[in-house]
Amino acid sequence: MTSNLETQLLALQQEGENAIAAADTLERLEELRVNYLGKKGQLGALLRSMGQMSAEERPKIGAIANTVKESLQTSLDKQRAALETAKIQAQLEAETLDVTMPGIFRPQGRIHPLNGIIDRALDIFVGMGYTVAQGSEMETDYYNFEALNTPPDHPARDMQDTFYLPDGNLLRTHTSSVQIRYMEKEEPPIRVVAPGRVYRRDNVDATHSAVFHQIELLAIDEGLTFTDLKGTVKMFLQAMFGDLPIRFRASYFPFTEPSAEVDLQWNGRWLEVMGCGMVDPNVLKSVGYDPEIYTGFAAGFGVERFAMVLHQIDDIRRLYASDLRFLRQF
Ligand code: DAH
Repeated sequence: MTSNLETQLLALQQEGENAIAAADTLERLEELRVNYLGKKGQLGALLRSMGQMSAEERPKIGAIANTVKESLQTSLDKQRAALETAKIQAQLEAETLDVTMPGIFRPQGRIHPLNGIIDRALDIFVGMGYTVAQGSEMETDYYNFEALNTPPDHPARDMQDTFYLPDGNLLRTHTSSVQIRYMEKEEPPIRVVAPGRVYRRDNVDATHSAVFHQIELLAIDEGLTFTDLKGTVKMFLQAMFGDLPIRFRASYFPFTEPSAEVDLQWNGRWLEVMGCGMVDPNVLKSVGYDPEIYTGFAAGFGVERFAMVLHQIDDIRRLYASDLRFLRQF
């Protein structure tokens, strides 16, 4: 009887340990725990038969039963720990990020160098209190020339070879036409900048294009003087190019009197960067402003010229070629 129970206990221990060692999931392990050590488990069932044992046998079998129970519990704990570790390990492996793998390429757009210059220039003028205005690229002779003190027989028309359209209109040769359009609509005081495309019958080469961009500047008020013009131009050029020497050189434009061209010392030589002057009284009269009350200054410059200097571009045509190898540099 005794040895029979002892054998059964030891057999149960052996069988249980084998089963526990073979358990490959935590769920299976829990099943085994219930099966062997649970209230209605196999060990309990065996022990219940101890009731029929004699008083001497009982402690001996009880001690063996305890050993079996402890041994099974230890095996369960060990296997549980092993399975939990394996589970975490598997999860870590499944979720591993290989940071050395090449990423997904996301093409990124850029600002075109011409737009970059325009944005910067407008920012500077807006910072000085200027408003941004736009005009039309197709213009009448009146806005492009006549109202700007350039009548049909004026020799200054030769300075700008013009594309005429079959209907008698033309493609504006400069953004100065926006001066007239803006003054017709608004009243002084005026502070306005006008960026835009302009057209000239020029043969295309490294420094000329039939289509290019200008930014026009106009200020009208009571009491504006050449000093205001110089201060504004200087501030703008410094913000754009840095603190470089600049000089004003007397020049001629039909719509300004006096007129000047502005040179900037760049890499050791003087570079012409813009035209400017005090708005000619005839221009003010053409929009109905009284030149006895109002004075003003105007200036205009080529955006391509600025881009070429600031980015060291040697051929204007690169700016229009849509070659990404070129454009990605900016
Ligand atoms: N419109 C001139 C040109 O295209 C540039 C210019 C000169 C604009 C003097 C002005 C100015 O406003 O005052 O060559």
